[in-house]
Amino acid sequence: MLTIAVPKGRILEEANILLRQSGIINKEVQETRKLILEDVDDGIRFILAKPQDVPTYVRYGVADVGIVGKDVLLEEGEGFYELMDLGIGLCRLSICSKPGKTCQRGELPRVATKYPKVTANYFREKGEQVEIIKLNGSVELAPLLGLSHYIVDIVSTGQTLEENGLVELEVIAHVSCRLIVNQTMFHLKNSVIEELVSKLEAGIQI
Ligand code: PRP
Repeated sequence: MLTIAVPKGRILEEANILLRQSGIINKEVQETRKLILEDVDDGIRFILAKPQDVPTYVRYGVADVGIVGKDVLLEEGEGFYELMDLGIGLCRLSICSKPGKTCQRGELPRVATKYPKVTANYFREKGEQVEIIKLNGSVELAPLLGLSHYIVDIVSTGQTLEENGLVELEVIAHVSCRLIVNQTMFHLKNSVIEELVSKLEAGIQI
């Protein structure tokens, strides 16, 4: 049996479609409060995880493979193989703020984000000094409350920005979901994993 770690929510919805059209599963993975779902007929066990934890489950080998956004991999990404771009979960990691001039001259810009490493690298490469404030979600609150001048966060439909009166200033990275695999399992279960990859490659074309 192959164990796949997958985030709940939007990614699971898109993953369900891809996994079905790839012929990997026959019935949808239902999102309930149950966190481990066994699909005995298809020989797959799903672990429903927080996106940021998918790399950890795969790194430690409790999941053979994982489906996870490139945003998470940029922040957390080592100790597994990234096998393919699944073409789902398309969004972008962007710098956003309130409209207009948000930071006074001489003031150290404060940037709130769930992605402190990516954000630090980005501003370091640009040679700009900023203070990074780590948040765990609802990051859009930070500029609204004056906690930060900017945020670095995921923009998908843009609805969250719009409903909170924020604007997207610059795209840092285009994001899609990737298939990652535990390094040992890649060798131990190579034929199963190769089969999974070729089915997914075919499914993506549909
Ligand atoms: C993500 C992201 C934005 C929102 C963007 O949040 O952090 O807040 O989705 O999507 P949109 O452009 O389609 O509105 P998520 O729903 O994962 O919750 P979080 O804010 O708690 O991280």
